[in-house]
Order: sequence, then C-alpha cells, then structure tokens
Amino acid sequence: MKRVFVTRKLPGKALKRLQDDGLQVDVWPDFLAPPRKKLLERARGASALITMLEDNVDAELMDAAGPQLKIIAQYAVGLDNIDLSAAKERGIVVTHTPGVLTDATADLAFALLAAAARRVVEGHDYVRRGEWQTWHPELLLGPELHGATVGVIGFGRIGQAFARRARGFDMKVLYSSRRPKPEAETGLSAEHTNLDELLERSDFVSLHTPLTPETLRLMNAERLARMKEGAILINTARGKVVDTGALLTALESGHLFAAGLDVTDPEPLPHDHPLATHPRVVLTPHIGSAGRSTRERMAAMVTGDVLAVLKGGLPLHPAPAS
Ligand code: DGY
Repeated sequence: MKRVFVTRKLPGKALKRLQDDGLQVDVWPDFLAPPRKKLLERARGASALITMLEDNVDAELMDAAGPQLKIIAQYAVGLDNIDLSAAKERGIVVTHTPGVLTDATADLAFALLAAAARRVVEGHDYVRRGEWQTWHPELLLGPELHGATVGVIGFGRIGQAFARRARGFDMKVLYSSRRPKPEAETGLSAEHTNLDELLERSDFVSLHTPLTPETLRLMNAERLARMKEGAILINTARGKVVDTGALLTALESGHLFAAGLDVTDPEPLPHDHPLATHPRVVLTPHIGSAGRSTRERMAAMVTGDVLAVLKGGLPLHPAPAS
C-alpha cells in the first residue's frame, strides 16, 4: 500500500479522500513541526509528502524518503523551503497551492494596513489598560487611509488583489514588478514605477514578492531610508524580504510611522523580541491564508495533486520550476 506522510493535520475532509482511494495516510499528530530526525524517519518509504512552509525539504529528506517518492505537495503557495532543483534531479514532482489563497492573504494585508495606520491595536491596549479617561482631539492620531498613495512591491495575484482593496479605499496605487503589467492595471489605475520611485512616493508600502535570492532582505537600511518620513510598511510575503534590524532602526528613529507584519525574521517571533514589543508594530502569526474555506480548499488542492501523480497523471498545480 502506498503511503503519504503529511507533516501536519489538515482542516476539512481532504485527507479522507486519500484513504478512500486506498492510500495509507500518516499524519504528524503534533501542533509543532516534526523535529528533523522524526521528519527523516517518517518520510522513509513514503510515495508522497504533504509539506508545510516550516519543513526544510532538501535533498537529504528526498533521499531519506527513498526512490519511490513521486510527489512533494506543498500546503502553501510559497516554495522557498523546498530545494526545487534537488527534486527535479530526482524526478520528484513538486506542487503548491496558488490562486486559492490570494483573496485571504490580500484581506489580511489590508487589515494590517488599516490597523497600523489607524492605531487599532494601540487603541485596544489603551482601553484595556484602563487609560481611557476622555475624548481628546489629539488622541491616537494616525495617517488617513483614503486618498493615500500605496506602493505594491510584487504585482502578481496577491499584489493585485491588495491593490483592488486599496482602490476601494480611494488610494492611488503604484507598483513595481519585473515587468510592467498593463493588462492588470486596467480598472486599478495602477502606475508602474521602479522600486526607488515607488519607495519615495508611497505613504504605505506592501510586500507581495516570493522569497528568492533577489528579494532576500530587499527592504534593507538603504531602501527603508528611501521610504517617506512617516510611511508604513506591510509584509505578508516572507519575513526574510525585510532586514529586521534595519526595520527596527527605522521605527525607533521615527522615520517609519508603523509596520504591519504577518511574517517576520526570525519566525516564529519570540514574544520579547524588540519587534514584538514595539508599540507601532502590528503583528499576526503568519496567518495570511487562514480563512477557514481557503485552508480547506488548499487541502483539497494538495490531495488532488497527490492522487493525480500517484495514479500516473499530471498534477493541476505544479511548482513553476518543476
Ligand atoms: C503561503 O502559501 O506561502 C503562505 O505563506 C501560507 O499559506
């Protein structure tokens, strides 16, 4: 019987579909990721692995699994934790979950922006601490959302969905991407600029790029310094796209007004990390795609691709380079 190792419990009924098709489904039962040794042990003999973004899916893991391993189905759109060339060399198909999580992630990016600009978390803490004594004209002032200019870095599916939300709030949208996307600009009145110009003109900057060698620490001290005085940075992409030390310096000097981060470096972020204790940083624990139906649909996508490949067919959602 072919075995599928799933490195975390998945929501919904998708895994049952694999069992109904005669596969043995081995699910790592803990909330935390399997430690490396356990990951290597449990992968041994599996024909398919369903992996998460915290699993280091490298050549060692593929070899530990063995030559019967046919597919690695990543339960995420991002693939930066997977050695795609090692998989290609071994003839292992890699799949992921594009498209389905676009709106959920864009919703959360916009929620972080609204919360950071209008100081929602600071206000909440203020009330809870019992400090609310009066209405005051200068209490918790923040930048306006409507009428602001927002810069979207990375104008793929999620970047464009974020831009649609920004347009709904009467914002002007700038974007930078490897190439202009006139087809996507229609209806968004979005303007393509180079990265430096985007940083200089935007009141808010939202990151929507995958993590690649080119985007690693893209937002370094120099680029953060290019951002407008009082700007806000939003990151729902990957923590390592931002240089954490440089971001802290920009926040502490007051150059940036605030940041809204669903992803951080390090991740998970310790509760006493300076980013976690900074009053102008709004944090969520990498939950961009955590809409209930989104996560169930992601589970259906990975199991659908596992079934297709183990039956000798082609997957519907192959990784771009596999
Ligand atoms: C992804 O899909 O890459 C997100 O970070 C998690 O859903």
